[in-house]
Amino acid sequence: MRVTIPQLQERARAGEKLVMLTCYDASFAKISEAAGVDILLVGDSLGMVIQGHDSTLSVTMLETEYHVRSVAHGSEKALVLADMPFGSFQDSMEHAFRNAARLIRAGAQMVKIEGGAPMVATTTFLVERGIPVCAHIGLTPQSVNTLGGYRVQGKSDDAAARLIADALALERAGAAIVLMEAMPAAVAKRVTEALRVPTIGIGAGIDVSGQVLVNYDMLDIYPGRKARFVKNFLAGQPSVQAAIEAYVKAVKDKTFPGPEHSF
Ligand code: KIV
Repeated sequence: MRVTIPQLQERARAGEKLVMLTCYDASFAKISEAAGVDILLVGDSLGMVIQGHDSTLSVTMLETEYHVRSVAHGSEKALVLADMPFGSFQDSMEHAFRNAARLIRAGAQMVKIEGGAPMVATTTFLVERGIPVCAHIGLTPQSVNTLGGYRVQGKSDDAAARLIADALALERAGAAIVLMEAMPAAVAKRVTEALRVPTIGIGAGIDVSGQVLVNYDMLDIYPGRKARFVKNFLAGQPSVQAAIEAYVKAVKDKTFPGPEHSF
């Protein structure tokens, strides 16, 4: 029996940290959930860590469905969260619904949508039609070309205020989780305090409801550039499962991320 979104929300409200990790195949799905991971994110980071591209932009619906199916087959307890790939949801709410439904049919229980205020209407449209949504704000890698690179977001007072307003609007629109990437820890803390739904951080400091990392990063498999928020959890561990268990423990006992992983 898989964990449900209300169960995760309740655990976060009770003060328990939630653990999310990316996952792209059945074997990693099995050991990740055995290690205690709550949410398996089939991220479009697969375009970089699996396919070797220099961004997430080339990932397609067919590729995402394939990886969602693999992760769903390999797991029984964790929630499977599917990233909506670039171009699969931005142009119309109906297009977003059709593609989100494909990912739910492939085995996901929730979809993740990058973007702040412009995604409010789409979030409502999906949630009202039975598709749970995780919002993704801050650094949104699908916008790398408009952002001019993978940069920390929300550094000025205005930008921080916009992030908080976006998070509140997405919560009102029905988002069940708000994921925040690469922003000052103080801003992520303010967002978390302002929301009732859980927040998940990556490069967003410790004062959030839970953490996510890319599994190929935290196992030090990915040869590309390492972001400040990445920690190698395989170092000193006898196995991949032990490394993932160490990550789960560090998130739950609030020893990860440290100040050296935060902005
Ligand atoms: O695609 C992905 O792996 C993600 C995480 C970085 C949050 O969106």
